[in-house]
Amino acid sequence: VGRALARLLADRQDLLRNRYGLSPKLRAIFRSTGGLMVRSPATVEGLILGEALPARKAALWDPKIMLPAALKLDRPGVFVDCTPGNIRTGQPGLDQMRLALGRGWHVVTANKGPLVVGYRELRRAAAGRGLGLRFSAAAGAALPALDVGLRSLAGTRITAIEGILNGTTNYILTRLGQGATFGGALKEAQDKGIAEPDPTLDLEGWDTAVKLLLIANAVMGLELKLEDIDVEPMSGVSPRALAFARKNGRALKFLGRIGPGRGGVTADVRVRAVASSHPLFGVDGTNKGVTFVTDTMGSVTVTGGRSDPRGAAAALLKDIIDIYRN
Ligand SMILES: NC(=O)c1ccc[n+]([C@@H]2O[C@H](COP(=O)([O-])OP(=O)(O)OC[C@H]3O[C@@H](n4cnc5c(N)ncnc54)[C@H](OP(=O)(O)O)[C@@H]3O)[C@@H](O)[C@H]2O)c1
Repeated sequence: VGRALARLLADRQDLLRNRYGLSPKLRAIFRSTGGLMVRSPATVEGLILGEALPARKAALWDPKIMLPAALKLDRPGVFVDCTPGNIRTGQPGLDQMRLALGRGWHVVTANKGPLVVGYRELRRAAAGRGLGLRFSAAAGAALPALDVGLRSLAGTRITAIEGILNGTTNYILTRLGQGATFGGALKEAQDKGIAEPDPTLDLEGWDTAVKLLLIANAVMGLELKLEDIDVEPMSGVSPRALAFARKNGRALKFLGRIGPGRGGVTADVRVRAVASSHPLFGVDGTNKGVTFVTDTMGSVTVTGGRSDPRGAAAALLKDIIDIYRN
């Protein structure tokens, strides 16, 4: 995702300047093995995009360069987190984001882990210093769920959210509905590069639960924790349920739902049979979709969006542009 973002920043320079008056400069990059900070943005882009010669890369790469040093640059900018997420500890992104916000940097992230563990704290830290904290790429990526929920539906009371939020499981369910076997559909998803080599978090529903949590907490102002969501894996879906749904003109969807419940709200993730009149009925394959139920604007659904690193990078870029405009 980080590499795709670097490529987008390089490819879109004219568009960003002409349309938004924005000329972003890549000033430092990090991997787990070190990092680099250079004065020339073109050098950084060349390194990431693989255009620089290996010897030049090796000369610039510094295994001792650490994030705190980079965050001391004369003018704070935007810190973009594309590290792998741990939804139990939030690390390594959580500490990195704390540090960045503490040093006056805006934060844009594709990483769910820090937000699951520390959203409230990070939001407070950002708001307290007038900084942006944006995470479209972690909450559906190219599907503009947060934009719609936070901006298009501003001023409404959102009473329920329902979403197909995971491309891998939606693809598998679509293929099962077309007669494929579970193992066959999963292998297809992996061969297409949609599913992770280890798709456990997707199949067990945790990826959907996390995205539901991030969206609901942001747009409904809740303080939901992962343990508040009742999660049922999709791997148990039976051929009988599929045949029954098909016979009745329904489709099986792996849905995350949150809505009014006893004493507040209830939230769950499970496979449900939806009728053809349901707004998410036609969301097939790797597509995603989310429906917001509001008190004054009725029900609003947004669907589609690319499920790959380029789509996630485009969501990061959108958040960077948004911070710049604000
Ligand atoms: N792939 C997608 O389509 C997609 C879509 C939406 C959101 N996301 C999220 O975006 C994030 C990145 O995904 P990805 O697919 O790009 O993962 P990835 O290919 O595993 O890349 C992760 C990167 O993070 C670096 N890294 C790991 N630990 C680090 C540390 N302590 N300090 C600095 N860098 C560190 C890794 O460097 P090394 O290689 O040196 O270890 C690697 O460059 C994840 O949180 C993922 O959930 C991904």
